[in-house]
Amino acid sequence: MADTDDLKDAKAFHAEIPQESSAFFLKGANALGWGMQNRLSRIFNPRSGRTVMLAIDHGYFLGTTTGLERIDLTIRPLIPYADSLMLTRGILRTVIPPTASSSIVLRVSGGSSILKELSNEEIAVDIEDSLRLNVCAMAVQVFVGGEFERQSIINMTRMVDMGLRYGVPTLGVTAVGKEMARDARYFRLATRICAELGAQYVKTYYVEQGFDTVCASCPVPIVMAGGKKIPELDALTMAYRAVQEGAAGVDMGRNIFQADAPAAMIRAVRAVVHDHETPAKALDLYETLRRQPKR
Ligand code: R5P
Repeated sequence: MADTDDLKDAKAFHAEIPQESSAFFLKGANALGWGMQNRLSRIFNPRSGRTVMLAIDHGYFLGTTTGLERIDLTIRPLIPYADSLMLTRGILRTVIPPTASSSIVLRVSGGSSILKELSNEEIAVDIEDSLRLNVCAMAVQVFVGGEFERQSIINMTRMVDMGLRYGVPTLGVTAVGKEMARDARYFRLATRICAELGAQYVKTYYVEQGFDTVCASCPVPIVMAGGKKIPELDALTMAYRAVQEGAAGVDMGRNIFQADAPAAMIRAVRAVVHDHETPAKALDLYETLRRQPKR
């Protein structure tokens, strides 16, 4: 029991200084609870308001993927440069050290493979496991216009309900089927549906025309998906344009871990996203870093 004898009089009240009460830094997140805002602050850097997420969850439907054959060897060195790792619980528990500095965004939908219809997903992780793993968000694939559109949207709304109960944000991931047009009109539809139904942030692809309208019409932050491997300058340019046009960061996989020098590439992406560096300057940084001898 605390000692109650000789208590000192409290006097540091600073009555002349009003208690600080500032708005939360992320779009659409002011009405969220403390736990959810705290988790979002571990994904999005409060200084820049942006994030560099490293997506390595491909195995959940693709199996072994080029660059991810040995995550312990290829991805671990990138962890210090990722604000967040997006991955499955299988890889998290087996390969990622619990001392890792990055926050965790856990892939929680699944149930399909490249051998069959991809949109036929269910919720594949209990929220209790997300809590055990101390994750900062749960990622659910949403197939707007896909064969199992309704099922995938309901997967997301279930995670949103559970996430709100426990203070864990849900990331709606817009998936594009082969038959769907990849244009601003489609992504405005898909991202808005995710946000209207409660996702705290949304991952979507970049489009050359009208990406600013996708970001502007989505009331929660958007992170840009990477997509298939393209030349480094093109990937840096895409990331640059996305954040200039309103994205709150990127969630890139193959364009980082399939680059010739993945650690140099993620640092170049960080320069574009967090430091407003131009693609040309970021490419210079990439070339400089990749020439440095490995220690
Ligand atoms: C995409 O929707 C899935 O989550 C992927 O497994 C992954 O995030 C894709 O990353 P990238 O297209 O940048 O390789």
